[in-house]
Amino acid sequence: MDNLDFLMNRAGEILRRQTPLLDREKLAAYVQSFLSRRDAFLAITRRHGSPLYILDEPALFDRAYRFSEAFQREIPRINLFYALKSNHHPAIASRLAGCGMGLDVSSGLELQTALAIPDVPIIFSGPGKTLPELALAVAHADRVTVLIDSFGELARLEQAASAAGATMSAGVRLTNDERGLWRKFGIPPADLERFMTDADSCAHVMLCGLQFHSSWNMDPERQVAFISRLGELMGQLPAHRRTQITFIDIGGGYWPEAGEWLQEAGTPEGRLRQCLQPETFGTSGPYGYPSTPIDLFAERLGRAVKAELHSRIDCRIFAEPGRWLCHDAMHILLTVIDKKGDDLVITDGATNAIGWERFETDYFPVINLSRPDRQERPGLVLGSLCTPHDVWGYGYYGTDIQPGDILLMPSQGAYTYSLRQNFIKPVPETAVLSAAPDQI
Ligand SMILES: Cc1ncc(COP(=O)(O)O)c(C=O)c1O
Repeated sequence: MDNLDFLMNRAGEILRRQTPLLDREKLAAYVQSFLSRRDAFLAITRRHGSPLYILDEPALFDRAYRFSEAFQREIPRINLFYALKSNHHPAIASRLAGCGMGLDVSSGLELQTALAIPDVPIIFSGPGKTLPELALAVAHADRVTVLIDSFGELARLEQAASAAGATMSAGVRLTNDERGLWRKFGIPPADLERFMTDADSCAHVMLCGLQFHSSWNMDPERQVAFISRLGELMGQLPAHRRTQITFIDIGGGYWPEAGEWLQEAGTPEGRLRQCLQPETFGTSGPYGYPSTPIDLFAERLGRAVKAELHSRIDCRIFAEPGRWLCHDAMHILLTVIDKKGDDLVITDGATNAIGWERFETDYFPVINLSRPDRQERPGLVLGSLCTPHDVWGYGYYGTDIQPGDILLMPSQGAYTYSLRQNFIKPVPETAVLSAAPDQI
């Protein structure tokens, strides 16, 4: 009973909480930024068909420039590595490499994609690397650095490198949250000195760096807190260990500055209401949490790096941004196939192109390019899979919606294309939206 009282109180607190509503004016301006390029989107759909992924080259180059500029200004000796897992389309990787970035990979498959791009520097991170994956890294020791995830992996890397007669440049990942599921990543910071001692006896592994990564940062505070902890750790290391460290990788996890956009079901109070009152669900929102502009991320992290790390060791800084770079660099185009009522349409494309039931919890405006309007109207926009969870949205921006209309789902670049599935429907083709569009 005590527990029930506790839960009832918690439920009351959650239901009284109100996630902020998205600013409708800002949303309309965001929609307008796509409507102003409407002709280009319609032309590319006529040429390539639908459904279609659009690689938005100008957006990708803009994000690459802005991220690099902000971080290079604050941390002059920085190397950026695009996290391929966020969108592994080879054209995104090669264009970002062309902007001077290296690549961060987390599997043998991603490593192969990265190796196909000539000369790009690569870091290989992630837990549970297999011997064949490590052997592939070792075969390209001239441009791959392995970020070791555990004591066992140190031994396996030594085994792979000694078998090939190579010397492998490496770092070690430090666990930044030692509770719960995040503890699967890296080694506890308290074990660093022991790890470095073990690495001394691995003649084919040259341990010269540290890495940490925290995900989903709406502001830099968590990253700053761990940098500060790292600084303390560096202060405790003997001098010869400090000079051994030539890079510190501060990871990725920068949330795009538009913020996080949510359907009612994506908010804590909405999830609870959905359980208690399913019949009234889905009628409010959209909601959102703000994020931090990238210049402020860079400034705050730059200050922390200077005060906590560069005051103690002379090293380069690595960063592994993924989502921030590719989120706005890919969109999805769809065609309305069927209208089954005033408030329900079915599209040719389906959420297998996204790989998860994203739009039940995340909000993105569905933009009707064929009947443009800056106002959102209610109506279910659903895909063509045989599941009711195939939702694009609960409304659309347009004067109306009819079969044959072309719809745009903007900013679908991060953790969607990489998760796409051959489930019932085939995955869409990709086309490039640039000054001179061409199919890739
Ligand atoms: C080790 C590592 N680095 C970088 C990233 C990229 O993070 P984000 O796309 O949030 O920037 C991830 C994402 O999971 C990661 O696991």
